[in-house]
Amino acid sequence: MPETSVTAADVRAAVAMIRETEPRVPEVALVLGSGLGALAEAAEDARAFPTEDLPGYPRSTVAGHRGRLVFGRFEGRDVVFIQGRVHLYEGHPMRAVTFPVRLVHALGARRLLVTNAAGGIHPLCVPGTLMFITDHINFTFASPLAGPNTDGGPRFPDMSAPYDPAWTDRAEAAALRQGIATRRGVYLWTRGPSYETKAEIQAFKKLGADAVGMSTVPEVIQARYLGMRVLGLSTITNYAAGLHADPLVHEDVLRVGRLIRGALERLVRSVVREAA
Ligand code: HPA
Repeated sequence: MPETSVTAADVRAAVAMIRETEPRVPEVALVLGSGLGALAEAAEDARAFPTEDLPGYPRSTVAGHRGRLVFGRFEGRDVVFIQGRVHLYEGHPMRAVTFPVRLVHALGARRLLVTNAAGGIHPLCVPGTLMFITDHINFTFASPLAGPNTDGGPRFPDMSAPYDPAWTDRAEAAALRQGIATRRGVYLWTRGPSYETKAEIQAFKKLGADAVGMSTVPEVIQARYLGMRVLGLSTITNYAAGLHADPLVHEDVLRVGRLIRGALERLVRSVVREAA
């Protein structure tokens, strides 16, 4: 898919199609990561659009990622769930990877809650940990903003606080009130699709990474460029490579995602309820 195939005109066409039958303006958009897609079932008065029906929406190819945009009420707010994230490792260009974020922004969403599955590097980031992302390291060095600056944001957007500190504080307080244990940490993005080597994980640890994964950072860069407030939440699904005897398998990632789903759902509910 050439870069030019995902344009502002595609975003407008997808918005027009959605607006034919769905008038709600989502306050919060939620990106659902590996194994977390089922959260969209919790939406009330839901209206789902298969992403393959939306002009310009790139095709997702990963097991555990369903391609739908689900509008609905969730904790008293109009939200949209992005079920069907696209990844750089699938072979999509960066501008396609961030198409869903540009779409929900064009639909009116001004807050983005990004979830993902990640490997734990910090000794306290054990499988089952819920980690608020406080910062990231873009180890791919790829940017969704490369190329002509046509979408109205700054050419050189600030990235000194991509994850909204105030929203993160509120979310953490909400978790505490719910009795849900969380941590904070730095997320490092690798392109994938191979998992990391042991030496890479040791290197990432020295660089200051607490968790590692293959998503999120492009969406966050795009969202910050568009002026959206971002909250990042990783589910640690496994020990990163070399930190445990077992080799890494995607099924474990999905299994731990399922195990933690209840706590994650309660946390996401309170975060959306108190998004303010
Ligand atoms: N590495 C990269 N991506 C991941 C991992 C990991 O260990 N776990 C879940 N997504």
